[in-house]
Amino acid sequence: MRSKFPIHTTLSGDAIKILERYEKELGAKNIVLEKALLAMDGMRYKAKLDTGGMRSPIKRISTGVPGLDESIEGGIPKGFSVVVTGPPGTGKTTFCMQFLIDGVKKDEKCIFFSFEERVEQLVQHFMRFGWDIGKYIDDGYLEIFGMSMLTSEEMIEIIESYRPERVVFDSINVFAEPSDFRKSGAWRSLLRMLKVKKISSLFITEKHHGIEVKQFDDYDFLGDGIIFLDSVRTNEIDTTPTPVMAVQKMRATRIDRSPQPFRFTDDGISRYRATSMPSSVLQDRLASKKKKFDL
Ligand SMILES: Nc1ncnc2c1ncn2[C@@H]1O[C@H](COP(=O)(O)OP(=O)(O)OP(=O)(O)O)[C@@H](O)[C@H]1O
Ligand SMILES: [Mg+2]
Repeated sequence: MRSKFPIHTTLSGDAIKILERYEKELGAKNIVLEKALLAMDGMRYKAKLDTGGMRSPIKRISTGVPGLDESIEGGIPKGFSVVVTGPPGTGKTTFCMQFLIDGVKKDEKCIFFSFEERVEQLVQHFMRFGWDIGKYIDDGYLEIFGMSMLTSEEMIEIIESYRPERVVFDSINVFAEPSDFRKSGAWRSLLRMLKVKKISSLFITEKHHGIEVKQFDDYDFLGDGIIFLDSVRTNEIDTTPTPVMAVQKMRATRIDRSPQPFRFTDDGISRYRATSMPSSVLQDRLASKKKKFDL
């Protein structure tokens, strides 16, 4: 049917439907109507692109982790969805809660969706850093959903009604395999909604390998950024591994990819700059892997 009117190809789907309805009624191609619809489409696309807004500098928000913002031009661009990943017990949940605490301290509403831990357990963990979680919840700035069985549609509803500025999902491996997740319509709707509303979000994902292995999953491609947390030994006889973090990707940002050490302090985690330690550590790890391979 449509091939009868090849001129329609530059119109949007909605405009084509309107035009076809009138053509059916009037029995002929209506050029005036088509031109009007085309012009309206043009305006619509222009409004959607908001090129005026694009010229303004990127607004960045602090991660709340001392020492990290300086390595990413001041913070994560507002509205980004960043993947926080790493092997078990490397500080992913702590990192993300610290990001939310930074938000609530600036009177921003925040939501933490945990799919594996109970609220009580999370609150106890975070109280150790002196974060007054209970007060933030009572004041209406923080919502924590523990052991969440919520679907992505339900989370969309919650986010739309609560209107947070920052959201954390811990961890999304519980939901689906990386490739299924990326193709899932429901999650794509959630990600789209976060983008449209310019909500900054952290997605925790789990890795079965350390920072020295260059291997990425579909979650990594989906994120606007990747922050990798790990824990590495400084030498063969060292029994206390050093926590390290690396910004492996951050769209629209100049980054320093080298892993830097961080420590757990009384106020949360704090990154510090090492002159040579982490890279020499990783070189050791790579060298020992190579040795094993040669044998
Ligand atoms: N005050 C502290 N000092 C030193 N290490 C700490 C402190 N608090 C927590 N940790 C360490 O941090 C890790 C747990 O942090 P967190 O729960 O944020 O990690 P995670 O990566 O989310 O873990 P999981 O993979 O189990 O979800 C543990 O290994 C714990 O030993
Ligand atoms: Mg965790």
